[in-house]
Amino acid sequence: MRGVILAGGTGSRLFPLTKVTNKHLLPVYNQPMIYYPIRAMMDAGINEILIVTGGNNAGDFLRLLGSGKEFGDLHLNYTYQEGEGGIAAALRLAEHFADGEKICVILGDNIIDGSIRGAADDFRKQEKGARLLLKEVQDAERFGVAELQDGRIVGIEEKPSNPKSPYAVTGIYFYDTSVFDKIKTLKPSRRNELEITDVNNAYIAEGSLTYSFLDGWWTDAGTFESLARANRLVATSAGLVFDEETE
Ligand code: DAU
Repeated sequence: MRGVILAGGTGSRLFPLTKVTNKHLLPVYNQPMIYYPIRAMMDAGINEILIVTGGNNAGDFLRLLGSGKEFGDLHLNYTYQEGEGGIAAALRLAEHFADGEKICVILGDNIIDGSIRGAADDFRKQEKGARLLLKEVQDAERFGVAELQDGRIVGIEEKPSNPKSPYAVTGIYFYDTSVFDKIKTLKPSRRNELEITDVNNAYIAEGSLTYSFLDGWWTDAGTFESLARANRLVATSAGLVFDEETE
C-alpha cells in the first residue's frame, strides 16, 4: 500500500502565520506539522509516500524533507496542486503515483496520538472499497460527520449545522484504486471544491465502505484554536507539564 499526504491549500485560516510559509511546515511542539503524518504512515508499514503540496512555498518541503532518508526507510515523492480545488482535487494528482495499488491518504494537518497500523492491516485484507477512521468529538459540526445505522455508515454530511452523530470522519482514509474514477465523476460543491465527503458517499452507495474507530486523541491543526490544541496535546504526550500558574 502506498501513502499520499495532502499538504496543498493556502492555509488562509491561519493567516498571517501562513503568509511566508506553508501551513504544514509550521511547528507543532518540536517538529514541523508534516512530520506527524509521515511518521503515522511509516508506523503502519507505508514507506512509499507522495506529498501533494501547493502555494508559494512548495520548494521548502524539499529543503526540509529532501529524499526522506533522515526518516530511515522512506521514499518521498512530490507533486504540486495548482490553486485550491479541494481535497479530492489534490488526491486526483496521485493517480499516476498509486499505479493501481491501494492507498492510505492523510490530510497534512491531522495529528494523532495512537497508531493506524491495525486499520492499515485490516484494509490490506479488505478485498475492495474504502475504509475510514472515525472519532467521537464534541464539535462535530466542524467536520465530515458519519451517520451510523446497524453498525454501518449510511451517510456522511460535510460540516452539518445539526450533526446526526458525534462521529467525525478524520482525515485518514484508505482507498482502493477505484477512488480515481469516483473523483472524475464529482461536481464542485457550494464552496467550489471537489469534496472528499462526496468520494466517501460514492463508496457508501456502492456498499463498500468500512470503518474503524481511532484510538487515542486526534486533532486537526488548521485554525488558531486547533493548532494551539495540537501543540499542547503533542507536548503533553512528550511529557511536558504545563504549569497553569505561570501560563
Ligand atoms: O480534518 C478532518 C476534516 O478534513 C474532515 O472531517 C472533513 O470531512 C474534510 O473535508 C476536511 O475538512 P477541512 O475543512 O478541515 O479541510 P481543509 O480545507 O482544512 O483541508 C485539510 C487539508 O487538506 C489541508 O491541511 C491540506 C489538504 N488540502 C485541502 C484543500 C482544500 C489540499 O491538499 N488541497 C486543497 O485544495
